[in-house]
Amino acid sequence: RPIALIGAPTDVGASVRGASMGPDALRVAGIVDALRRRGFSVADHGNLAGPPNPGQMPQGGLRHLDEVVAWNRLVYDAVDAALGRGEFPLLMGGDHCLAIGSISAIAWHCRRQGKNLRVIWLDAHTDVNNETISPSGNLHGMPVACLLGLGPASLVGWSGERAAIGPADIDFIGIRSVDNEERQAIRTLGLQVFDMRHIDEHGMRNTMAEALHDVHENTHLHVSFDLDCLDPLDAPGVGTGVRGGPTYREMQLCMEMIADSGQFASMDVVEINPALDVRNRTAELAVEFIDSLFGASTLVR
Ligand code: ARG
Ligand code: MN
Ligand code: MN
Ligand code: MN
Repeated sequence: RPIALIGAPTDVGASVRGASMGPDALRVAGIVDALRRRGFSVADHGNLAGPPNPGQMPQGGLRHLDEVVAWNRLVYDAVDAALGRGEFPLLMGGDHCLAIGSISAIAWHCRRQGKNLRVIWLDAHTDVNNETISPSGNLHGMPVACLLGLGPASLVGWSGERAAIGPADIDFIGIRSVDNEERQAIRTLGLQVFDMRHIDEHGMRNTMAEALHDVHENTHLHVSFDLDCLDPLDAPGVGTGVRGGPTYREMQLCMEMIADSGQFASMDVVEINPALDVRNRTAELAVEFIDSLFGASTLVR
């Protein structure tokens, strides 16, 4: 399947500015050539043109709600169009609020085709806050709540049903920063959170085997990759970095096991912040891991 690159240059969902430069950082790091070297046909559809960042304070527990809605509508339509053409949508963010539009479009297509949607959320954070419990009001901390049908009304129900995904359809990998009330929501919903403690104790191999156990031939596997999942020592170009992420090798294994499932069908790459990066190291690392997701391997057999 041809890969459709979709750039969404915005940071309206964050309070730290700069993730809007993520799409070009990925292009400069060679994302197109890397995927072509894997044998894929790649179409870079350029950048979506949404509203600027107004730099306002949160209102009613939400920062820049109108802008986040506008950007996600553009993302929804672009991902929907790519899926309609039979392509593999690869969304280049931008901040993580964009997963609302991306995954809603994918959920709509999956339901129409009778496919089972499963999401792997690679992140230091669970992003399951909403307007009542978020300590920041930043919408990049709320996409999972919106997708579960628990966010603000204007960001819920885009897939045609109240919830684009159910709590059992998403697994979180690499988690090490959860807000107090967010933790309560995770428990109430019964979300499968493979936090860093789990990875420390069981290893990445067992963790991914558990996360992928219910992936089968009829599964559409979506990967939502927030670069702050990695350790900030490896990936300094992120706005909300948290110490103590998976190692380079652990992350490679994670990517290779997703590739081995054979069901990987769409992805988001978000939260790369070139303004905070060191010589584009974070975008280059992202391209290495994306290469592995699409089949590159250090396996010599
Ligand atoms: N939990 C914090 C918040 O709600 C941080 C969220 C960071 N999210 C992200 N996609 N980087 O504000
Ligand atoms: Mn994060
Ligand atoms: Mn699961
Ligand atoms: Mn995130």
